[in-house]
Amino acid sequence: MTVGLIGGYGGFAAIAGRFLYPSKTGDVMWQFVTETAGIEVGEAIRYRGPSGETINITRMANNGDAGDFIALSSTCPHLGCQVRWESQNDRFFCPCHNGVFDPSGKATAGPPAEAGQSLPEYELSVENGLLSIAVPPPQFGEAGGEIVDDDCVSGPGHDPCLAKAPAPGRPDKEA
Ligand code: FES
Repeated sequence: MTVGLIGGYGGFAAIAGRFLYPSKTGDVMWQFVTETAGIEVGEAIRYRGPSGETINITRMANNGDAGDFIALSSTCPHLGCQVRWESQNDRFFCPCHNGVFDPSGKATAGPPAEAGQSLPEYELSVENGLLSIAVPPPQFGEAGGEIVDDDCVSGPGHDPCLAKAPAPGRPDKEA
């Protein structure tokens, strides 16, 4: 009976501990993102993981493996604005305070560079043309990530997602 009680309390403690101290370092799950063929070299997609983190996944090469891609948090380490990939400038840019990051996520200008900050990187894998990412598991609810298609404009201002980009081929205002 003692063994049963210890086992029972031990199991309860393990479950309680998971909720009290849920995010252990290195605790990740693999999630399918998309087919690699759907992302051109120089193009980035935004992905939202099951815990709500948003990630820029950028294709840098076309060798057919995970090294073609880099997955970096899209949340600026300065004050949390959304960082965007600018293929024409070969950089990630944060419009809130002109933060600039090189393609590896290292800050090169603006407040993040002054603070020596970088964009956290996520591990990727490619198998049979399918791209997957290692992300933190959700605290509650079902696991599942999604590609985010929110048309945020990357321009000056403190919340680039407040201003929506006009739909392609549609004028801003009626003539
Ligand atoms: S929030 Fe990105 S530079 Fe300030």
